[in-house]
Amino acid sequence: MPKNPIRKPLVAANWKMNTERAEAAALAKNVVDSIGRQYKVDVVLCPPYIWLHDVGMIIRDSNISLGAQNMHWEDKGAFTGEISSIMLKSIGCKYVIIGHSERRQLFGETDENVNKKLKKALTVVLMPIICLGETLEERESNRTAEIVTNQFRSAFDGISDFGGITIAYEPVWAIGTGRNATPQQAQEVHKILRQMLQNKTAEYENIRILYGGSVKPDNAAELYKQDDIDGFLVGGASLKAGDFAAIVQAAMI
Ligand code: 13P
Repeated sequence: MPKNPIRKPLVAANWKMNTERAEAAALAKNVVDSIGRQYKVDVVLCPPYIWLHDVGMIIRDSNISLGAQNMHWEDKGAFTGEISSIMLKSIGCKYVIIGHSERRQLFGETDENVNKKLKKALTVVLMPIICLGETLEERESNRTAEIVTNQFRSAFDGISDFGGITIAYEPVWAIGTGRNATPQQAQEVHKILRQMLQNKTAEYENIRILYGGSVKPDNAAELYKQDDIDGFLVGGASLKAGDFAAIVQAAMI
């Protein structure tokens, strides 16, 4: 089936733990200047928590939305160093990334945590971007479908209304390595995810599935041509306004 125009493309920048204060402001401003007025692609900037306010002020009058890189599932309390969904809402976030592989691999985030965070995000009307993907070892032992299927089932356990949810397929071996999944490899997994959505909801055609992992200006267009790739979650290349803008452009065609 050709790409369904019902899904507006979405390109999100995950700045990870990068940028000092002035750099963050300059980057946000450059992104606004280059793609802040277009309306064909939903564009989201996810800076470090500490720059959410600054970046939010800079993108305020543009078509760019604010997102966070993580959240806690409780509203408040004795959770030193954590940030709640309510805090994110009150600073102007519209989106939140949940279950990024770096959270899973480096900070012990479990499938159960991801599910709790997802449920909380939905209750406060934050739009979650749920990340999943296999490691190189899992891919090489032909377990990709099994891994993403299991991650999908756990993340969406108890969820029936998918309104506002975005999925990001990010193969761990492609993140920050310069080795992106080929368009065919990505499409194969996106198709599995679309089928899983179809088993869960009649709205499966409305839900955006992003690809992430070494997305660059020179590979974005080919990836975006795939029927079930509805945009990108971009790490390294989102730290250069020109590269990020070029990736957004690739999702307009
Ligand atoms: P890179 O684009 O740097 O590979 O990172 C991808 C990613 O993890 C986005 O969340």
